[in-house]
Amino acid sequence: MFHLGWFIGNGFGVQSWGQTWSGEGGTEWKEAQLYIDHARAMERAGFDFMMFEDSSMVPDQYGGSMDAYLASAIYSPKHDPVPMLSAVGISTSRIGVVGTIATPFYHPFMAARSFATIDNMIGGRAGINLVTSSNNRAAQNYGLDTHIEHDHRYAMAHEWVDCLTRLWGAWDPDSVVLDEANGIFADGSKVRTVDFKGEYYSSRGPLNVIPSPQGRPAICQAGGSAVGREFGARWSDVVMSNVQGGPGRMKAYRDDVLERAVVHGRKPSDVKVMFLINPTLGETDEEAHERYRRKQEGALKAYEKRLISMSVFTGVDFSTFDPDEPLPAITTNGHQSNTADMRMMGEGKTLRELAADYDLTTIAPLVGSPDTVAGQLQEIYEHVGGDGFLVASTVNRRTVAEITDGLVPALRRRGLTRTGYTYEHLRDNLLEF
Ligand SMILES: Cc1cc2nc3c(=O)[nH]c(=O)nc-3n(C[C@H](O)[C@H](O)[C@H](O)COP(=O)(O)O)c2cc1C
Repeated sequence: MFHLGWFIGNGFGVQSWGQTWSGEGGTEWKEAQLYIDHARAMERAGFDFMMFEDSSMVPDQYGGSMDAYLASAIYSPKHDPVPMLSAVGISTSRIGVVGTIATPFYHPFMAARSFATIDNMIGGRAGINLVTSSNNRAAQNYGLDTHIEHDHRYAMAHEWVDCLTRLWGAWDPDSVVLDEANGIFADGSKVRTVDFKGEYYSSRGPLNVIPSPQGRPAICQAGGSAVGREFGARWSDVVMSNVQGGPGRMKAYRDDVLERAVVHGRKPSDVKVMFLINPTLGETDEEAHERYRRKQEGALKAYEKRLISMSVFTGVDFSTFDPDEPLPAITTNGHQSNTADMRMMGEGKTLRELAADYDLTTIAPLVGSPDTVAGQLQEIYEHVGGDGFLVASTVNRRTVAEITDGLVPALRRRGLTRTGYTYEHLRDNLLEF
């Protein structure tokens, strides 16, 4: 069996707006109820978790102005996902809720405290997606002149998680004794300072939060570069990837992450590698192919929207390039692996065509009826030996229902995904298979 997660790729932002099936997406996106509805559908379908992307800036890379971002609601507005985890968590009972934290901008004590609090509030289903962020504007919002160099920020992130996990471990699991007869709430011999003194971060500890029901919240991460994979392999319960180029590259990615995990003394089964998918479903294969063709046509027309996003994670102004020429040579201090994939995908294409393709594909185009797509996923799973998939489709009631009530029943009929939850805690469900 494999695991399923849903990646809310625009974070706590505008999900689906101005499209035929967006509903009241232009106003509803800011209400907790929308995500609660979706999470309940995902829980019915046995998803391991729902994960919110995050960033903290109004970008201005494309055309040197904020206008394109504000007009198209790309990257902005974006609300803080951490409070949303509590709302979704208390409205569900089994699905995990994962929020993103950018390590360069949060002190590990603050993150340890927030996520241990949420984990306690919702009975052990919280997860933290650790990113090192990629954008100068975000860095400037936290007082830096420019963002820290790519590999250096991963070096800092190792120390950050070391501090975070020590803080989470400062209270023994049995430290809260509730001994009413002797008037002892928590046993002082089971709670310690951590006295963490690193090169970048220090914290005395202990945390002033009781132990997390899971021991510690689950850690997720999606580095694609060598240093990014090293970070994920060392610390993460879930490593996520949108590696392009088909099963061969997916397998190489997974093997690499698991080999690195073993070097850090971990069992390969402790790390779940999940790949992003964005299926196009239809009543029949023909209908799905027709929808995919229309999506391609739409993506080509709206190629500029993709360039607007590509400008954010590379920090390069794509408005200055001719869309009918190939992608020029670019360098970035942003997402290294995505930029490398973009160069690979751009071979033999104009920038316009590349932008359109980049919008549609994740690991492979998955197109067909629910049973056909279930078969395609089964084939990938058997070839790559991965641990599951992270749905990254546009979030609206139609797409969620297509996956949770169309694709998932087809996956279940093939015995590929769970029919119910065995455990109460996110990490236990992740480690089940
Ligand atoms: C599933 C997934 C989720 C991600 N979530 C975020 C996010 O919320 N915020 C962010 O700044 N970057 C996010 N990223 C980017 C990664 O953290 C990472 O920077 C990117 O995959 C490039 O890898 P590299 O940093 O090793 O070059 C995400 C990537 C993937 C594939």
